[in-house]
Amino acid sequence: MKHFLKETDFSRQQAQQVFTLAKALKANRLNGPQPLNMQSWGLLFYKSSTRTRISFEVGVNELGGFPVVLNSENTQIGRGETIADTARVMSRYLHGLVIRTFGHEIIEEFAAHANIPIINGLTEFNHPCQLYTDIFTVLERISPDAVDIEALRGKKVAFYGDCASNMANSWIITAAMFDMEIVLAGPQQFAPGQAVADALKADGLPANYSFTTEAAEAAQDADILYTDVWVSMGDEAEAEERRARMLPFQVTPELMQLAKETAVFMHCLPAHAGEEVAQEVLDSPQSIIFDEAENRLHVQKAILAKLVECATPTR
Ligand code: CP
Repeated sequence: MKHFLKETDFSRQQAQQVFTLAKALKANRLNGPQPLNMQSWGLLFYKSSTRTRISFEVGVNELGGFPVVLNSENTQIGRGETIADTARVMSRYLHGLVIRTFGHEIIEEFAAHANIPIINGLTEFNHPCQLYTDIFTVLERISPDAVDIEALRGKKVAFYGDCASNMANSWIITAAMFDMEIVLAGPQQFAPGQAVADALKADGLPANYSFTTEAAEAAQDADILYTDVWVSMGDEAEAEERRARMLPFQVTPELMQLAKETAVFMHCLPAHAGEEVAQEVLDSPQSIIFDEAENRLHVQKAILAKLVECATPTR
């Protein structure tokens, strides 16, 4: 069974097909194909969400399916039913399942016991739906006709803040997958961890990312400046310490000026203006944050369609 738990679960060729389809679906939002015809897809959330939940719920509907929104607390998961049994039972009702959860091992256990496609809607390790959306949003600007992944080669990403976070991990892996350069800037104690190095090795990708504690160094000639919240869900106990340590890594207009003239500012949202990013940057013409948010819908529809295609036996 084909799942989408990490960026590399699709080959480069399949990723290109996802981006090409996302472009077509975006151009023809309400009159597109309906590959989820009569299918019921579960959307299981252990954590809060605005973008992931709404974009998947709308996307499943627009592809002709029925979304079934669930959370861990009001299912028997909250009362201790095992993941293995939950996955087996859900596989008897549903045609696919999107999961947002805590540890990555939880989603891997679902995938190991389900015989329906599982999509990762964020774990503590990564956020592949967000990254495919981010890449598509960049391609819309640098390769608008073909959304051709070859256009990504050599583009420089500067990632700021918690460089050991799920978004940082996803960017490191995605940059390696598409031959992009990535420099991460943050406090030393938030440098990229061993888990992402192991993931690159497991997928045969080069570990060619670099890390700096100098914010300006990362921004130099960058094509994309990216940041995420300093206090992720689950990190609330460390909130004050994180804010104090990460303040030098706020994305400011001065940092943006070090980047290329054509550089864009990106953020997966929700944003905290005055923390990880200055309000002027969020409001600037270089900010493409709401295109990113919109594109979650189109790209996830393409991912859903691709997984259904992969699950359909060919003659
Ligand atoms: N970027 C993102 O995943 O947003 P939500 O937490 O609102 O789903």
